[in-house]
Amino acid sequence: MHAMKNILGIVNKVLCSFLICVLLCKSNYIICQTTYYKDIYPILLNNCIGCHRNDGYAPFSLTSYVDIKKRSQFIKYVISNRIMPPWNADNHYGDFANNRSLSEEKIKKIINWIDSGCVEGIKTKIKEKITYGESSQLQLKVDLKLRMKEPFTIKGINQNTYICYKIPYEIKNDTFANAIEFVPGNKSIVHHASYQVLEVADDVDINSGPNYFVFDADTLNRVNDEHDYRYFKLIGKDGKMPKETYHGGWLPGTTAQVYQNGIGIRIPKKGVLLIRNFHYSPTPIETTDLSGFNIFFTRSKISRTLGFASFKPQNPTKDGKWFIKKNDSNFVAHINVKFYNDVSLLNINPHMHRLGKTFLSFVITPTKDTIHLINIPNWDHNWQEFYRFKKMIKVPKGSVLHAEAMYDNSIRNAENPYSPPKDIMFEWGMNEDSEMMRLVLLYLPYEAGDENKNLK
Ligand code: HEC
Repeated sequence: MHAMKNILGIVNKVLCSFLICVLLCKSNYIICQTTYYKDIYPILLNNCIGCHRNDGYAPFSLTSYVDIKKRSQFIKYVISNRIMPPWNADNHYGDFANNRSLSEEKIKKIINWIDSGCVEGIKTKIKEKITYGESSQLQLKVDLKLRMKEPFTIKGINQNTYICYKIPYEIKNDTFANAIEFVPGNKSIVHHASYQVLEVADDVDINSGPNYFVFDADTLNRVNDEHDYRYFKLIGKDGKMPKETYHGGWLPGTTAQVYQNGIGIRIPKKGVLLIRNFHYSPTPIETTDLSGFNIFFTRSKISRTLGFASFKPQNPTKDGKWFIKKNDSNFVAHINVKFYNDVSLLNINPHMHRLGKTFLSFVITPTKDTIHLINIPNWDHNWQEFYRFKKMIKVPKGSVLHAEAMYDNSIRNAENPYSPPKDIMFEWGMNEDSEMMRLVLLYLPYEAGDENKNLK
């Protein structure tokens, strides 16, 4: 009887531990398993939803489990081939604060989750950290709200539209801003914008002159800034040219950079925001846009004014050709710039048009060290970023910056505007049928410790 009791006791214990084991494993299974709410949504929020949301730029939204599940195979394809999120810089070459690409680890995580059947998991309340609409994405008080004077009409002819648009403003005093935010009006059609803050001479009437022009065959032969400034009547009576105090850019998915640590953008009391290159996507239906800017003045004292420099190729080719010949798939242009002071670089913006193929830029210091800036192995003219370095980059006095841009004017380039290819003008104007090379830098005079400062 006693022995029987003992045996029953043991059986009981074994059964119990078995049950505990099953329970533990089961809960463990739930805890460890990758689920939509716990693991996948946070990644999508950071890397996809900025564009893939209801009023977003991308053609469909990726904000719900159902959205993801029904497109899971497509998502697997675009992330494993690095088609999405759009990001063209080589991350092994440069390190950027606004890098929105997915790490290998995150790609694997999403793919494994899709392969194991897109487990939804326990529904948790989702926190949308991004706010949209009329207000600012920065969630700061807007000090100066500037918008286009009237809505611009984009014809429903299924063609890209490029315009140049002037927004004049006047405030009481010269001041400084720690952020300028471009606010796209009609988000489904605004494709990209690059703009300047221009200070004008006292005798310039910023409200006279036209507000915009549309790039077409007639504007193709415009050759320089002076032509635009004259067109918009921004040149002073004694010939004083507008002075650029900032140069920024916007693409879907970009948020404005907020400068800290006493760094500011000079906002002259009288000036214009000139959207030099404003691109609207093709649309089959006539529509309008009213975009503009939010400007945020600095509350703290400014000790450092952001500098801006734009470089173009000195000599397009060795023999002075100014065309990219048809079928030439290896046309190369160079920029070489010497630095006469120590500077800290904050942003870099490489610019080419549709024939662009690769873009590389680096610095050689006087001690022959190489500092990597940016490598774009597969140029995509749709995604022209203002790349923001993760930490400021110190360029010592005496260094030389090199940039090399390569162009493909053959039929192998699917973006070639002409089929069959034809000779394309190089550095003749801004129309999309002509080609160009620009390298824009935002910089500060170097201060000790800059190279350890993170940029957000
Ligand atoms: C910067 C904006 C942006 C971000 C960020 C972004 N997408 Fe997209 N996505 C687009 C646009 C725009 C399209 C439309 C196709 C195009 O223009 O290339 C698109 C298309 C797609 C497509 C369809 C592909 C096709 O060939 O039509 C999928 C799938 C997709 N995105 C998934 C994602 C996923 C997943 C993420 C995040 C990991 C993501 N996207 C991040 C802008 C973005």
